[in-house]
Amino acid sequence: MNVLVIGSGAREHAIAWKLRQSPRLSALYAAPGNAGIAALAETAPVAVPRADAAPDVIDGYAAGIVEFARRHAVELVVVAPEDPLAFGLADRLHAAGVRAFGPMQAAARIESSKGFAKDVMERYGVPMSASARFDDFASARAYVESRRGNVVVKADGLAAGKGAIVTASHAAAVDALHQLMVDGALGLAGRSVVVEDRLAGREVSAHAFSDGRSVAHMPFACDHKAIFDDDQGPNTGGMGAYSPVAWLTDDDADRIRRDVTEHTVAALAAEGAPFRGVLYPGLFVTEDGPRVIEFNCRFGDPEAEVLLPRLESDLLELMLACADGRLAGVDVRWRDDAAVTVMLASGGYPGAYETDKVIYGLGDVDSDVLVFHAGTNFDGRGRVVSNGGRVLAVTALAATAAEARAKVYRNVERIGFAGMHYRRDIGAKSAMAASA
Ligand code: GLY
Repeated sequence: MNVLVIGSGAREHAIAWKLRQSPRLSALYAAPGNAGIAALAETAPVAVPRADAAPDVIDGYAAGIVEFARRHAVELVVVAPEDPLAFGLADRLHAAGVRAFGPMQAAARIESSKGFAKDVMERYGVPMSASARFDDFASARAYVESRRGNVVVKADGLAAGKGAIVTASHAAAVDALHQLMVDGALGLAGRSVVVEDRLAGREVSAHAFSDGRSVAHMPFACDHKAIFDDDQGPNTGGMGAYSPVAWLTDDDADRIRRDVTEHTVAALAAEGAPFRGVLYPGLFVTEDGPRVIEFNCRFGDPEAEVLLPRLESDLLELMLACADGRLAGVDVRWRDDAAVTVMLASGGYPGAYETDKVIYGLGDVDSDVLVFHAGTNFDGRGRVVSNGGRVLAVTALAATAAEARAKVYRNVERIGFAGMHYRRDIGAKSAMAASA
């Protein structure tokens, strides 16, 4: 079977790497892919537009992907990032008779509209923080000023990880509202907002495959979003991840699976928007139990880089089962091993950074350590160079979290490029919890 993967990050590299292991796979294509994916798939240099791109840009892109799929006899297109899911690439493929893995636009709204997600959670009683949705600045400001504690201001639309502003005073929250709703700092994405009470607790990522009715849960994972150790500094797309999550109690894990993931899949089906793909609720585990902070309609990145190496089952079979609505009864097996991923970033990231730095040491890592490329390219001499803020995700697996951590950092030290930086505490708290 010929398969096309849409996207260019470490998540897409991890997906391509896992699909390659399927005996059912014939040709693998990626659009646009990156230097790492190019070793596994034939790449096509077709950049993915943002969800808020002009309609003619989106139409031209979608028509090009349909044409590519037909020309290469592609039987499954894996739509991995949120933007093409938000603008309805799965719908266009479906309409053209091409099978897609990833939700249709109506179900992808669970990520692409924070207001829609909040309405669904409220209607169906999915545990979340107290919140309200606003289209005008004056009402949003009055609401903020009426809250007892601090709040999170969230742009309604997709904002490449910049849409949730955690504030430490009402003045800062009003300032954030002004930037989004009046100054238009995030364009249309921020003209509507959701204001939520700020929660205290630990963050965890749940992931599940779904075919619109049935659910196959994945192990839990944790992402480290802040740029510096000890969760200091601005948020990024994610600087590292680990799985399993030793500190999560069985009771909270059961509540997340049942009251959040399964309940939301049933809710979306009842709303006439069945969710087929990977549903990824991000949660805070609070004193009062788990609370959803956001839903995502795809694999997390870097969560995919710890989850997919732990997956024993055939990813292609699972994706086909989701797309074809026959996930019930499919046996999904996971390795017991712990996985830790460390993201290597460009100097200056998440602010301005330079690209085209030659990457050294890629051939020096242990044979069982995985290096997933995030932002890489080839230069004119065929060398692998940096091409993004997040550049490489290095993953190690071992019997314990502590061993996986030690192994990943031993290998990270063998890789280098000018300005490279990374967090040194990925999985540290988990490793301590596991050995406690
Ligand atoms: N891990 C954060 C995200 O993928 O959105």
